[in-house]
Amino acid sequence: MSETVTGAGTGTDWRGWQDSWDRQQEWYMPDREERFRVMLDMVEACVGPAPRVLDLACGTGSITDRLLRRFPDAVSTGVDLDPALLAIAEGTFAGDERVTFVAADLKDPHWVQSLPYDSYDAVLTATALHWLHAEPLAALYGQVAGLVRDGGVFMNADHMIDPATPRINAAERAHRHAGMDRAKAGGALDWAQWWALAAADPALAGPTAKRYEIYGEHADGDMPAAGWHAETLRAAGFAEARPVWASPSDTLLLALK
Ligand SMILES: C[S@@+](CC[C@H](N)C(=O)[O-])C[C@H]1O[C@@H](n2cnc3c(N)ncnc32)[C@H](O)[C@@H]1O
Repeated sequence: MSETVTGAGTGTDWRGWQDSWDRQQEWYMPDREERFRVMLDMVEACVGPAPRVLDLACGTGSITDRLLRRFPDAVSTGVDLDPALLAIAEGTFAGDERVTFVAADLKDPHWVQSLPYDSYDAVLTATALHWLHAEPLAALYGQVAGLVRDGGVFMNADHMIDPATPRINAAERAHRHAGMDRAKAGGALDWAQWWALAAADPALAGPTAKRYEIYGEHADGDMPAAGWHAETLRAAGFAEARPVWASPSDTLLLALK
């Protein structure tokens, strides 16, 4: 099922919402833009500059946005379950024939049937799969392996926590949160404040109410270590998998089919 923008959103500053989403996400991940840059470097390295991409759990379409700016001949399908973030995505890319958005639950065993293509050069995702527990995530990796063509790639940029390094993890977390507190004092918006603003916009109030019915504040999930992701992706059918970038808190994991 693909969403379309209708009258309620006409006149809404979708690009403004897109930018405001990016600022809110950067409050949590100051290295977010660098993650996207390396992700697209590895898209170019492995599948070239005109890929067919699946932006998995796309939110407002931040990956699709960077993809199309850098590779104008790319095409992208964005899939997500959040009606408010999808409304911003649809509004931002309205009229761009390279982009399709699909509303689907990645935990639904049949979600791939909603996609406009049955094969992709690259499936890309960021800051999203920690909303799933390990078992449904392993099942999703099996579906992703079926969608990536031979020689194609899957990349996941997310929080990946190594349970073998608890003191390093605690120090990193405390340091990161101190930086977030300073940014907050400088006016940065957090998740709850951003959603309160969305609920107050007439174009987003309805879809925002719906997203709270679907998720509550935020879905619960797991943040397994990078090694778990690599192993699970190999078991799902990828030939190779390893991190291609890491910050103290996050990893960009690449799997090649
Ligand atoms: C923090 S946002 C990240 C969005 C985007 N990838 C980005 O980097 O800006 C997490 C996204 O995962 C999506 N998501 C979480 N669980 C999902 C599910 N079961 N099915 C579809 N989308 C899901 C949420 O709706 C949300 O858009």
